[in-house]
Amino acid sequence: MSNSLLFTPQAIASLTLPNRLVRSATAERMADEDGSPRPTLIALYRELVLGEVGLIITGHMYVQPSGKAHAEMTGIYSDSLVAKLAKLTDAVHALGGKIVVQINHGGMQCDPAVVPELVAPSAVAEPYARHPARQMSSAEISSTIDAFAQAARRAKESGFDGVQIHGAHGYLISQFLSPATNRRTDEWGGDLAKRMAFLGAVCAAIRSEVGSDYPVLIKLGAMDGIERGLSLSEGSQVIAALESMGLDGVEISCGIGGPHATSIRKGIQRIENEAYFRPWARQARQVTQLPILLVGGLRSRLVMEQVLHAGEADFVSLCRPLICEPDLPRRFEAGLQDRSRCISANRCWAEGPGVGIGCKCPLPHLDVR
Ligand SMILES: Cc1cc2nc3c(=O)[nH]c(=O)nc-3n(C[C@H](O)[C@H](O)[C@H](O)COP(=O)(O)O)c2cc1C
Repeated sequence: MSNSLLFTPQAIASLTLPNRLVRSATAERMADEDGSPRPTLIALYRELVLGEVGLIITGHMYVQPSGKAHAEMTGIYSDSLVAKLAKLTDAVHALGGKIVVQINHGGMQCDPAVVPELVAPSAVAEPYARHPARQMSSAEISSTIDAFAQAARRAKESGFDGVQIHGAHGYLISQFLSPATNRRTDEWGGDLAKRMAFLGAVCAAIRSEVGSDYPVLIKLGAMDGIERGLSLSEGSQVIAALESMGLDGVEISCGIGGPHATSIRKGIQRIENEAYFRPWARQARQVTQLPILLVGGLRSRLVMEQVLHAGEADFVSLCRPLICEPDLPRRFEAGLQDRSRCISANRCWAEGPGVGIGCKCPLPHLDVR
């Protein structure tokens, strides 16, 4: 495309990125039992920077032991991890890259093999609540809000270029936003304003720790995929409120996945199936001035440029394509390739302990130019 936007710089608050290609948060499963990142994670990030991605968003890191979603997840719950996390940021910065850390609490979606007693906004017995979880007390809610704030402080101390709050994919913040999983009748549940109170309190607590200049983003589930879940109309109201919550950018994704929508759609091989949350980004653009990142099935340079040119998003975010081809941005820019070879078969998950994520798909043949 002659007037490409993909390789033009763009800012998210004080953070200026060299291009519009973002590595969306990807749980790498490259951490020890206590959440310390392994050297393999540093090597992965180095590869992504050398591949010329504009921004790396780390895999979700747990802010509190009660929010550790799965084994081998990286932690940011303790000051003792700061020096270890700084090795990640040093490695990225040494090569001229930028890195934002995604912070999360898994709530009812934690693996019970990792967290013995799961907590959630409400105790619900529904198929989408895969494991029984206990309702959080007011004191636990306050402590988790503080845990997000302390995690953001540690992110800044570790040298990350910003934080991204995980507010998507059915994790704790998503659970608070959704009427399906938040059935509380106190100040944390009820109408949308009350279901948003937890997110609002997390954002305010983070800001008071990191100050006004530090980039704070969110990945937001604009809608759930289940009956009686968060609707797109409510999701839009949440997006409209993000700027007043002090946030600097929003990545559009799905909330609790289900029959009506899911965050990691399979088989994206035709252009019509790409960018599957594009209509939601379009709607987000109507209600917010914040920079928008669009994730979900972005595969071809053509579609990426179209999304940027239409102003529907300021950045395009990729997960699976960068697992199989970490140098895809460089290859795009050099004109060596105009489409990811990822076949979206979801075989990139770690197959066992100590392995980490990796592409196991037979990649289609690449036409060499
Ligand atoms: C192996 C794997 C790990 C993921 N880990 C995270 C994560 O830690 N945080 C997150 O927000 N999304 C995570 N996702 C979802 C992706 O960031 C992304 O939203 C989704 O895969 C759709 O984008 P894609 O079509 O480019 O893969 C993960 C997806 C995969 C396949």
